[in-house]
Amino acid sequence: MQYRALGEQHARFRINAQHNLLVSPPLLLYGCDLTMRCLVTRINHKTLIVICAVFALITVLLWNKCSSENDLPLKNRPLLEFAPTPENEEENDQAPEPPPGSKDVNYEQIDCLINEDIIIKGRREGGEVFLPFSWVEKYFDVYGRLVQYDGMERFEFSHSYSRVYAQREPYHPDGVFMSFEGYNVEVRERVKCISGVEGVPISTQWGPQGYFYPIQIAQYGLSHYSKNLTEKPPDLRIYGISEEKEGGSSSWVIPNCCTLSKVQDHGRSGIIYHFGSPENSDGVTLIMDNAKDFVLTFDVKFMTNGSVSVVLETTEKGPPYIIHYITSTLLISFKDREVIYGIGPRATWSTFSRDLVTDLRKGVGLSNTKVVKSTKIMPRHVVQLVLRGSGYISNITVSSTAHMAAFFAASDWLLHNQDEHGGWPIRVTRKLGEGFKSLEPGWYSAMAQGQAMSTLVRAYLTTHNPAYLSAAIRALSPFKRTSEQRGVKATFMNKYDWYEEYPTTPSSFVLNGFIYSLIGLYDVAETAGNKLGREAGILFNQGLDSLKAMLPLFDTGSGTVYDLRHFTLGVAPNLARWDYHTTHINQLQLLNSIDSAPIFKDYVKRWKTYLKGGRAKHN
Ligand SMILES: *[C@@H]1O[C@H](CO)[C@@H](O)[C@H](O)[C@H]1NC(C)=O
Ligand SMILES: *[C@@H]1O[C@H](CO)[C@@H](O)[C@H](O)[C@H]1NC(C)=O
Ligand SMILES: *[C@@H]1O[C@H](CO)[C@@H](O)[C@H](O)[C@H]1NC(C)=O
Repeated sequence: MQYRALGEQHARFRINAQHNLLVSPPLLLYGCDLTMRCLVTRINHKTLIVICAVFALITVLLWNKCSSENDLPLKNRPLLEFAPTPENEEENDQAPEPPPGSKDVNYEQIDCLINEDIIIKGRREGGEVFLPFSWVEKYFDVYGRLVQYDGMERFEFSHSYSRVYAQREPYHPDGVFMSFEGYNVEVRERVKCISGVEGVPISTQWGPQGYFYPIQIAQYGLSHYSKNLTEKPPDLRIYGISEEKEGGSSSWVIPNCCTLSKVQDHGRSGIIYHFGSPENSDGVTLIMDNAKDFVLTFDVKFMTNGSVSVVLETTEKGPPYIIHYITSTLLISFKDREVIYGIGPRATWSTFSRDLVTDLRKGVGLSNTKVVKSTKIMPRHVVQLVLRGSGYISNITVSSTAHMAAFFAASDWLLHNQDEHGGWPIRVTRKLGEGFKSLEPGWYSAMAQGQAMSTLVRAYLTTHNPAYLSAAIRALSPFKRTSEQRGVKATFMNKYDWYEEYPTTPSSFVLNGFIYSLIGLYDVAETAGNKLGREAGILFNQGLDSLKAMLPLFDTGSGTVYDLRHFTLGVAPNLARWDYHTTHINQLQLLNSIDSAPIFKDYVKRWKTYLKGGRAKHN
């Protein structure tokens, strides 16, 4: 799964968080005792790095004090780039007492020869030498930043940027999906927007035109499902149910051109409003006045073409923004503070649920490149709702979240878009890398199949609607065909079956996508029972055996590899980024909760040490 955007919030420290600062050019770092150079060369990287961190910390603290002695105003200091807080400036003016001992600190510049290759400038303090952190960072591929707390500042160093999640309880097909409660699929910059017609994300991962990407849709569903189980219930306010509570009929504004009446509808409970207003009129307006929550949900049925528009005050000065949801198939447009989403004809009753934060920001950030432009805009106040055309509306609600609506949008998309082979074809070309043949549009992915199964099984367990389970079982078919036959199965060394996230030629053996497919197979096997779930059970067990046999091939001794292209293509290993390394660990933790084989526990333990600079022993 290569689409996880760098901006994904849950899995990484914010290297450049607002109140934090990246160390920009040279802050000092890294000690090595000149008189003990030989010894130092024998210390492993980890130790060096720990030493680095300690010296960086001390140096940063001392450096501040030193420069104030030199009467350098804080903001002109060449080595640190940040706006000083008022307290800092004050302190600076008063030239604070240097900390004990700091008067003796005396740095000199010193040339440092790196690998008999290049010379960089370091600093020397007596027997200690400090190398610039900007150099250390690149050389060792490590992370550090200056962090300010109340009246305190320190340097924080870390070997990796990604974190492992605790497996909160044994995995179960109707439970939280791995650590997906921390995923925010819709905020990714490679998600163009949430489709108004389908209610699922439109991806621009591999092309700016935007397309439905089944893995992303399943992840959108699974993340909202998991948030539903882990977050507290939403705050909600329902509009137009009781005139007393809403301050009388004054919450509706009905101009002369327009009509509004309460009606009944067979099989639909609650108050239903019929609205009628010409398309170019002011429309029927419901005053919302909600400055707290930004998820809008209602049931609607249009008799003619029409629209529902939301007027929003935002963090931007000037007139409000308006989001129009119109009965057309337009994906999205944005012009002059007006965002438009097409929502399809909606000629029969349907529930319509939108996150106004996402809809506003995707509109304002709309671009014709692969990434949504970043924007600071946020809604502040849902002012009013304006109805145009003729139709019925009910259950108008503003809430803090509506996770199950997002989950069912994804589940229903998967249900309605499965093809006759049981698959969700991916409609873009994918070239995994130099040496692999391109996958032409229409390929299947074991990961898409697996994550769709995990989503559909949860929809079945929530609703008991057998259509979801049947779709999950049909999704097994591509696992029985090889990559050459437009399936997803590969075989390693003529022995071990593997399910390919990318069914490439030659095989790629991507680890994380394979494990996601195993989880999907497990969900179906556990849920469908002995008879219907038998095939999924067999595929799961075969895959699990392959995983147990092949897991060692992914361990580099200091991290993991993403796939086995170093074996199948004979090229350099494709090292896993830290966020993929932690995904591998999270996945093994999940498997460890359903299979007690020691390999999972042992690998989790060792792979976790790599995150803090641990390395396997050398000879
Ligand atoms: C989860 O879904 C249930 C059923 O729709 C709902 O009652 C509950 O409030 C939801 N909780 C959260 C946190 O979304
Ligand atoms: C409004 O919500 C209630 C409760 O979910 C539901 O029973 C009813 O059918 C909804 N009304 C319409 C018109 O969909
Ligand atoms: C809405 O407009 C489209 C395009 O103009 C038209 O084809 C369709 O029939 C209209 N729908 C209704 C319900 O009037």
